[in-house]
Amino acid sequence: MTTTPSQGDGAEHAAARIERRWASLAVVIVVFLIVMAAFAGIHQATMPQAQVELADPRTLHVSGEFIESNLGTELEPDGSVMVRAIGQQYSFTPQCIVVPTDTEVKFRATSADVVHGFLIDGTNVNVMLVPGYISTAKARFSTASERHMPCHEFCGVGHEGMWGKIKVIDKAAFEKMASDRRRLTCVE
Ligand code: CUA
Repeated sequence: MTTTPSQGDGAEHAAARIERRWASLAVVIVVFLIVMAAFAGIHQATMPQAQVELADPRTLHVSGEFIESNLGTELEPDGSVMVRAIGQQYSFTPQCIVVPTDTEVKFRATSADVVHGFLIDGTNVNVMLVPGYISTAKARFSTASERHMPCHEFCGVGHEGMWGKIKVIDKAAFEKMASDRRRLTCVE
């Protein structure tokens, strides 16, 4: 069976129409992807993370917030508690952090070398310590206890031995300790 010229023209027209539709759809998809990429890029550039704080790992021990004498637990004038700590291969400083019960505890920590993890057993404190950046977290402890604080980012051969401790003590006992010292650690 042969097709007449007019039938052939009709089929060609239909094929061209379908082809144009697919071409338009492809263009729409490409435009959509470009808009999405542009939106993501602009959004990231104009809406940075709410708060990025930097700390130069090469000078942590020399000056600034994370010098050794400023590490540990501090009772703030507003009654909250601030803990500053650093992670380095393969330990935390301070090795044992003391905090009171029933108090808002803020943590500020950074790394002196590579990426470490900062996690407190039984709480939702779980952050990475990235050299160059300050990590923050908050917690509240209802009962006096001892908690483990393992490094949970592989940081080298000594990683599995990198542990710290959190000692939660009674609020009154903590306040007594805090009254005669500015920075507290577990060491009496
Ligand atoms: Cu530090 Cu793993």
